[in-house]
Amino acid sequence: MRVLVAGATGVIGRPLVGALRARGHEVSALVRESSRADAPDADGIVVADALDREALLSAVSAARPEVVVHQMSALRLLRDDPPEAFAQTARLRTEGTAHLVEAARAAGARRLVAQSIAFAAAPAGPPVLDEDAPLYVDAPDPGWAATVRAVAELERLVLDAGPDLAGAVLRYGTLYGPGTAYARDGGTGQRVLAGKLPLPEGGAGVTSFLHVADAVGAAVAAVESDATGVFHVTDDEPAPAAQWLPHYARTLGAPSPRTLPAALAPRLLGWFMTHQLTEARGASGERTRATLGWKPLRPDWREGLGRE
Ligand SMILES: NC(=O)c1ccc[n+]([C@@H]2O[C@H](COP(=O)([O-])OP(=O)(O)OC[C@H]3O[C@@H](n4cnc5c(N)ncnc54)[C@H](OP(=O)(O)O)[C@@H]3O)[C@@H](O)[C@H]2O)c1
Repeated sequence: MRVLVAGATGVIGRPLVGALRARGHEVSALVRESSRADAPDADGIVVADALDREALLSAVSAARPEVVVHQMSALRLLRDDPPEAFAQTARLRTEGTAHLVEAARAAGARRLVAQSIAFAAAPAGPPVLDEDAPLYVDAPDPGWAATVRAVAELERLVLDAGPDLAGAVLRYGTLYGPGTAYARDGGTGQRVLAGKLPLPEGGAGVTSFLHVADAVGAAVAAVESDATGVFHVTDDEPAPAAQWLPHYARTLGAPSPRTLPAALAPRLLGWFMTHQLTEARGASGERTRATLGWKPLRPDWREGLGRE
């Protein structure tokens, strides 16, 4: 199949281009002018910024894709400029996705697969939720509420892309592995190594992890499937922070995380980290296993988190 990967220089996008080619697909990589020199090996390179509608329309039509994959984010900026990383990522999820849907339709693509996140659900109900759980669009933190609203808009745009453009949304769990925040040299890895990620009392927030290689594998499965809808892409072991954080610290060879009185957590950790470590819900991958026929090669984060 002819496949276009948008976000082809990213942590997921780059290995995805290689994985799709290894399966025999003809893959075009969409890159921005500024990262042209860093483009992956591909069957074709097309150049556009997704926020530039005209440029994107012409780049996508030049690639004539049957399937378009959206792996764009600006989260690489997280370390240096978090507000800009979130603002740009929200724009990519809303405006960028709208442009990509329009461009895919205009180019005659029949399928669109887009990256979303599996940790945007409102923290209500059981510790592990399926895809039908409401998103936390009314989170008390304005920054996270804006992020979740952008995620909801991306998903709406992809699922409502029209009768001729079938949409699949892959809600990835918390990524770990090379190039991610949880790699030894990533933002979270460095924070834990410095002993600066304490565990709020109880540590009941649940995280569903996903190795980056499994994020790539699930995207390949989604490209090759006809299934539409929203799919959690997570490993098999949703884990409360009280389990994963001390294990992760041990594996990294970091100091054991100290316990933080719950009342101090928001001030010391910020709203999002407190939410993640104390009340967030995990994401069940059952629907994905049944519908996409995909399962993780790394079903248990314990084997790899903190090792690479
Ligand atoms: N589920 C999760 O936990 C999750 C999900 C996503 C990301 N992350 C974290 O975020 C970090 C980066 O991962 P990532 O691969 O998503 O981000 P990334 O490395 O920033 O890759 C995103 C891709 O989007 C492209 N892009 C950005 N803005 C664009 C624009 N305006 N037009 C066209 N393309 C644009 C980038 O291209 P350029 O080369 O031109 O910048 C890049 O190819 C990692 O630490 C990862 O762990 C986590």
